[in-house]
Amino acid sequence: MSTVHVFDHPLIQHKITHIRDINTGSKEFRELVEEVSMLMAYEVCRDFPLEEVEIETPITKTTCYKIAGRKVGIIPILRAGLGMVGGFLNLIPTAKVGHIGLYRDPETLEPVEYYCKLPSDLHERDLIVCDPMLATGGSASAAIGFLKDRNVKSIKLMCLLAAPEGIQRVQKDHPDVDIYVAAVDEKLNEHGYIVPGLGDAGDRLFGTK
Ligand code: PRP
Ligand code: URA
Repeated sequence: MSTVHVFDHPLIQHKITHIRDINTGSKEFRELVEEVSMLMAYEVCRDFPLEEVEIETPITKTTCYKIAGRKVGIIPILRAGLGMVGGFLNLIPTAKVGHIGLYRDPETLEPVEYYCKLPSDLHERDLIVCDPMLATGGSASAAIGFLKDRNVKSIKLMCLLAAPEGIQRVQKDHPDVDIYVAAVDEKLNEHGYIVPGLGDAGDRLFGTK
């Protein structure tokens, strides 16, 4: 079974509170999502292996450490996942970005694919799938499935808020994929929205509706 990492860092919790707040407008919402994504990305990379390198400081030669030849791919699920990309790229500017377009059918809550553009060397990369919301888990599970169909071995899922139902779904469908979230909320409502949640992440990011 995969591990669920919940971020209890005070800075993340503080910013998530503002993200949830109905009075937070799109500009501030976008900035906060980017900031939290950057803070979370820092921890998501914690298990990257290091290798020794010899360098010369202005004082002397010395042995230091670098991340060992890691190639990273960030895979936002459109639209709302786009809001998390900038924060990640601030930390890992060499990462490549692949896009998977999915929307959730409002009646069935099933994910519908409408776009997919991925780096050609996808299978050589450690992939981090980003989506602010893990509700039923249908979208994340489908996106991870697309990546596995392309022979990718190393996948992590990073979300801001998750419902218990979404975590269970991804753990059942993809027991090899660790999940990183800032908070696990109480439940889903009858429309499949996370409670208390933050509302519709895509609409709040992009000012639609
Ligand atoms: C939202 C969210 C996830 C999905 C989560 O996207 O960003 O992708 O719903 O729900 P699930 O876990 O039940 O699949 P939405 O379909 O609203 O599209 P958008 O990002 O374009 O707004
Ligand atoms: N998608 C959202 O944007 N919000 C939710 O609460 C659930 C799915």
